Amino acid sequence: MKRLLTPALLLLSLHLRAQNVPLPLIPQPVSVQRGSGVFTLPKAAVVAYDKPAAAGAADLLVRKLNVPTGYAIRAQSGRAGTILLALNDAPNAQLGREGYTLSAGPKGVVIRANDPAGLFYGTQTLLQLFPKEIEGKTAASVAWTVPAVQITDYPRFGWRGVMLDVSRHFFGKDDVKRYIDQLARLKYNTFHWHLTDDNGWRLEIKSLPKLTEVGAWRVARAGHFGDRAEPKPGEPTPYGGFYTHDDVREIVRYAAERHVTIVPEIDVPGHSMAALAAYPELSCTKQKVYVNPGTPFSEWYGNGTFKMLVENTLNPSDERVYEFLDKVFTEVAMLFPGPYIHVGGDECYKGYWAQDPGCQALMKKQGIRHVEDLQGYFMNRVEKIVTAKGKKMLGWDEILEGGISPTATVMSWRGVKGGIEAAHAGHDVVMTPTTFAYLDYNQGDPTVDPPIYASLRTRKSYSFEPVPDGVDAKRILGGQGNLWTEQIPNLRYAEYMTYPRAWALSEVYWSPKEAKNWEAFVPRMEAHFQRADAAGINYSIAVYDAIVTTSRKDGKLLLNLEGEVPGLDIFYSLDDTMPDDHSPKYSGPVEIPDGPVNLRVITYRNGQPIGHLITLKRAELERRVGR
Ligand code: ACM
Repeated sequence: MKRLLTPALLLLSLHLRAQNVPLPLIPQPVSVQRGSGVFTLPKAAVVAYDKPAAAGAADLLVRKLNVPTGYAIRAQSGRAGTILLALNDAPNAQLGREGYTLSAGPKGVVIRANDPAGLFYGTQTLLQLFPKEIEGKTAASVAWTVPAVQITDYPRFGWRGVMLDVSRHFFGKDDVKRYIDQLARLKYNTFHWHLTDDNGWRLEIKSLPKLTEVGAWRVARAGHFGDRAEPKPGEPTPYGGFYTHDDVREIVRYAAERHVTIVPEIDVPGHSMAALAAYPELSCTKQKVYVNPGTPFSEWYGNGTFKMLVENTLNPSDERVYEFLDKVFTEVAMLFPGPYIHVGGDECYKGYWAQDPGCQALMKKQGIRHVEDLQGYFMNRVEKIVTAKGKKMLGWDEILEGGISPTATVMSWRGVKGGIEAAHAGHDVVMTPTTFAYLDYNQGDPTVDPPIYASLRTRKSYSFEPVPDGVDAKRILGGQGNLWTEQIPNLRYAEYMTYPRAWALSEVYWSPKEAKNWEAFVPRMEAHFQRADAAGINYSIAVYDAIVTTSRKDGKLLLNLEGEVPGLDIFYSLDDTMPDDHSPKYSGPVEIPDGPVNLRVITYRNGQPIGHLITLKRAELERRVGR
């Protein structure tokens, strides 16, 4: 048959095969039509932009292209260019503010949009169409081609965010910029910056200098966060850092160039130990506390209730607290041009309020019967301050407790329950449930990845549907992934925890619901592993690991193994040997014999080992029954 193929037929078949290879685009665009031929980037290419407002996207594209190609491509005003970025004179209603069309072919590339944000997203798609070497940091010699294609694309949701906690660990200015740049390339448009918590206050407040002089620094500690030793008297506090006003302005500008809005979070009234280390008079007990280095300072009772062994709450009955917050939010509002200020509101322990005569008197005066409802009083006061600064208040779903005005926006994190309730009550909602969107949870087997509160696989994140049944979709602004950093000491590991889940979530928040398909996402995710390698971005490969669960049937302990991605062969041993592809291959539930058995599991694909080795003792296998 092969001999019968004429050169023309061979070319056609190669062409058709090339057309069937999925383009490595994340998030998946609304519509992609393949054409014939390729666009080849000429050495003397020009990126033309037709209006001054399009210059920013052109500049960023040129900077990105010149490094790996080694070319000297220029951005130039006008319409004569190999790549044209054009702003529509008459808006294309389908595209909205962030959508774009991209047309690539042998003659050149044209990206059109209603707004510079759309042009920026079009250029991000264009970059993903080039070979992976386009992500490189040094000039490479490859064919810089893009397949001929017509793309129409626009987002499903207007709020597509990732939160980074810089309190538990401090991330310097350049790390934050690098992270924002990575997010923007996935068409995220919101960076939620968790700036304050028990473990460090990270934002300079000029009118309250001790917040960073004291609150940004803690004692040096190694070891698992939450199990660490208390500071010794007089011990130096070398660990930490904070952002000056100039740093913030620089980061805000950097984000804005990439069409990312920053949502600053000042987490009150709980999670305030670093602020109280600086200003202990703002608590009920007024006891001296320290910026916490990760000591066991709370007790959790398994049903979401807990006790703080050290006070970390502001005193809602003290007017000085509101004067303090007024100063803080004055500077926050001045520094951050976005419409929202996040005020936290989560996990506020009320035990110190319950003991405090001032709080008791306030409750009496306000007719508040339960101490839990004092938070409602506090949040309403905070909303007035935030509103007076011209900003909208956003808070975690606890702000619903004790009553809050419908103008507040709610971030649903304890599952989607809070979001549903808030939407029904007329609040705008951002969905970021632990069950799908918590990027701090481990991605693979908790005996392989460092342990943290819970597990969340990429496949589960990918399956997230942000609009619950029966909820008015207009109320759901969109969603986020949240990266808490108790166990994340540096950016390299932040990337590991972020990807590939933030790739999956970018598709949840950008792409049409109907287009979502895990099996189709996997090859694109794998292409992005290679692109991340070229870019020097870290990621987890836990998707290649076996999912190990156990069950019990007729008194027997049964082993169940599953692959997260298609095409894995799973081999195991129960005889204390190292498994390989000559070991038993999993094909259905296996009875685990009695005795001190150890399970070892390894995955292969196409005859090559690909996942981590997982080793589980009998006690762990027993523990997993029914989980
Ligand atoms: C949270 O995870 N405490 C919002």
